[in-house]
Amino acid sequence: MASTYNAPLVPSAAPAYSTVLCSTPEQMQRALAIRHKVFCEEQGYDPAIEVDELDALCDHLLLTKKNEDGTEEDVGTLRWYPPKGKVGRVAVHKQFRGTGAGSTLCLALEEHVRERRGKAADVMRGKTSFDLVAHSQKIAEVFYHRLGWETVGEDFLEEGQPHCKVVKTIQLKPEPAIAVLNGSKPPTRSYSVRWCETQSDIDRCIQIRIAVFVDEQGFSMEDELDEKDPASDHFLMTTVGADGKEEDAGTIRWWPKPGLAAGKIGRVCVLPKYRGGGTGKLLMTSIEEHVRNRRGKAGEASKGKESVTAVVHSQMHAEGFYAKAGYVREGDKFMEDGAFHCKLVKQIQLVPETA
Ligand SMILES: CC(C)(COP(=O)(O)OP(=O)(O)OC[C@H]1O[C@@H](n2cnc3c(N)ncnc32)[C@H](O)[C@@H]1OP(=O)(O)O)[C@@H](O)C(=O)NCCC(=O)NCCS
Repeated sequence: MASTYNAPLVPSAAPAYSTVLCSTPEQMQRALAIRHKVFCEEQGYDPAIEVDELDALCDHLLLTKKNEDGTEEDVGTLRWYPPKGKVGRVAVHKQFRGTGAGSTLCLALEEHVRERRGKAADVMRGKTSFDLVAHSQKIAEVFYHRLGWETVGEDFLEEGQPHCKVVKTIQLKPEPAIAVLNGSKPPTRSYSVRWCETQSDIDRCIQIRIAVFVDEQGFSMEDELDEKDPASDHFLMTTVGADGKEEDAGTIRWWPKPGLAAGKIGRVCVLPKYRGGGTGKLLMTSIEEHVRNRRGKAGEASKGKESVTAVVHSQMHAEGFYAKAGYVREGDKFMEDGAFHCKLVKQIQLVPETA
């Protein structure tokens, strides 16, 4: 599949072009129609693979031209895949090539990313700059260079054509303040997290979950205690009170996805009085350590694998918390257990397996 800009090398000054982020099904259809014309009808790619599963995860830009009689024509499109920063499916209708359409699209993408719009907002969180990446056909390399992109690494073959990787670093606009649910406060005591190896520890985790998700947040008991519990690793976070006694503070669980190099992090919660100051973060780093070191059910499930994908279905208010822990949003929000959630993922590299 051609994932590169495909226009003549010398763009001229752009006419009355404007670019929008596709935000309605109608705009998306127009963008897909341009791709179909260019990639399928003109270049002979199979329509069955031209539109793929990444489309739902990308930001799509649509370039249009305003004519003097007031009518509007669709000119070109590109898509951008946030987790990899990768630009692809750049397509400009034949009659507009060589008119600056491709540069206008690429510059619009730069602005889109710089301004942290669309899905870009999620992957830019916490960052001050970001690398845009494209696999350019060798004949289009000069086009990218003119726009300030640089070639990195060796040339390679893609779809039977010589390609190179081109990159441009975008300095991002300062980040707007993100909503912090519980405000950070400095840790006033120390916490520890243990993998539950007894039923009584697991019962303590479940009590914390009921206090947070059922009593505090109003989820149903049926949704809370599900069939994944027996197949999961559970973790209990504790602290020591002023009287020297152990107090339960939070919990988290890992459910290995059967047959996949992936697992789901869930039921992440800290009791209200212990929130802030990094307690939630400690739960996240502890579970990642457990998985990385192939312990428990996570270890059983990751036999023969070098890495696993940690998946979170986050309530919308907690998205920023996971983003801070390095999780990257995939796709649109969706309903789960009667509340909006979004999916975030992080790759966990495992320690080498011992013989
Ligand atoms: C979500 C939860 C586990 C986070 O734990 P916490 O102790 O409050 O958070 P931490 O102190 O560990 O925060 C770690 C970082 O994430 C940030 N953060 C925490 N909650 C956040 C939120 N809702 N939105 C954005 N950022 C958040 C913190 O500011 C902190 O940033 P820093 O490292 O730059 O200081 C906790 O608030 C909780 O139990 N909430 C109720 C249960 C819940 O909704 N769980 C999520 C289910 S999907």
